[in-house]
Amino acid sequence: MAFAGCELPGPSDDPYEALLFRLKQEFVPLTVLWELTHKCNLDCIMCYNVPLGQSELTTVECFNVLEQLASAGTLYLTFTGGEILSRRDFFQIAQHARSLGFAVSLKTNGTLITPEKADQIAALAPLRVDISLLGATEKTFDAIAGSKDTLRRVLRGVRLLQERNVRVKLLSLLMDLNMPEREQMIDLVMELGVDYEQAFKISTADDGTDKAGDHQLSREQMTEVLAVDHTPFRPRTVNATSRTCSVSLSSCLVDPYGNLLPCIELRIPAGNLRNKPFSELWSNGGIFRQLRNQHVMKNLPDCWICPINRYCEGRCSGLALKEHGDLYGGHLLACQQAQARFASIFPNERVPVTPLQTRLHGSTVKRPGSPQVGQPIPLLEGVNVHPTFFMETNGSV
Ligand SMILES: C[S@@+](CC[C@H](N)C(=O)[O-])C[C@H]1O[C@@H](n2cnc3c(N)ncnc32)[C@H](O)[C@@H]1O
Ligand code: SF4
Ligand code: SF4
Repeated sequence: MAFAGCELPGPSDDPYEALLFRLKQEFVPLTVLWELTHKCNLDCIMCYNVPLGQSELTTVECFNVLEQLASAGTLYLTFTGGEILSRRDFFQIAQHARSLGFAVSLKTNGTLITPEKADQIAALAPLRVDISLLGATEKTFDAIAGSKDTLRRVLRGVRLLQERNVRVKLLSLLMDLNMPEREQMIDLVMELGVDYEQAFKISTADDGTDKAGDHQLSREQMTEVLAVDHTPFRPRTVNATSRTCSVSLSSCLVDPYGNLLPCIELRIPAGNLRNKPFSELWSNGGIFRQLRNQHVMKNLPDCWICPINRYCEGRCSGLALKEHGDLYGGHLLACQQAQARFASIFPNERVPVTPLQTRLHGSTVKRPGSPQVGQPIPLLEGVNVHPTFFMETNGSV
């Protein structure tokens, strides 16, 4: 299958990099993220999951999908949710995945990990278990997670896994609510001795509504975080055929109802695995074909001419679609993030305004779905609608 260019790194001397290069060129679905359920024992203030009210895949249906993924060449499989441990058949599914040879990773909130469950997780020999850390105090964590005693329960889960030599990574989504505890969270993690990552991109919900946008860090706070971040940053190479991400080339998402989607943000189904084989949806699904052929820089009008596109790490088609109804647009959260990155590298220079912000100049742009703007954007297959801006007058971008 051919596609319109892609700035993938050339074949490398490193055998693993060379293999990845080849697999992307051949559209092998190497990495699959699977939301096994949208049920959860917590009720986090920012959670993007929107249960569709349909029946979730049964154990047997999950086995069938696993077998199809194995035939298609998938190697890395990450189970997420909702909360995976709220599914009674979770270990049956995960064990079947391991027996088929997948390298399995897990994403859990950690609160349901008992000694018995920790034993079962260790027996899976996962590559890694990611657990959310949403505060360094019980008060903050509980306020975000909508539950009681969350910090203690999460830390118990982490320790149970550590005792069994399971590799754990803690992930903190930084919001206005837990930003004051950012350093305390780092101290806590250093004490635990696990991997750690802080992020600040709050996604709009699966249906496009913006339930947590008000909790997003300001650009100044983002700059503050990036200024003390020691993760090496290399400005991107940008040319007409480069891509802002590798969506549709070697990864995809399965949702709890069997829909096959490009990624967690871009919830346009290629079809449903209950009705069609994975191989057919992956090869011929409209959204995958469109992204493979067209999702390149020269087709992103705002981003192609953007003066800080080399500093833009977060541009995402899914968020662009949800924010402005334009799969090929920019989106303001990425613009702010790019400006924060630019400001952290060049503290004495004026931060450029992006083309998207210029077009919206004089308006306070609301992400869609907020009470002021009403309806969420419907997600349609093959969508390439013209930008629809949601704005209030007399504000600033
Ligand atoms: C949806 S959760 C599912 C796994 C598990 N229940 C957990 O909370 O870790 C996966 C990850 O998404 C993050 N997350 C939830 N809502 C988010 C949002 N609106 N924007 C960005 N990340 C979000 C969570 O903090 C977690 O790290
Ligand atoms: S624990 Fe995870 S899935 Fe559950 S509500 Fe929180 S973010 Fe969502
Ligand atoms: S900063 Fe904004 S306009 Fe520039 S490349 Fe990123 S998303 Fe596009």
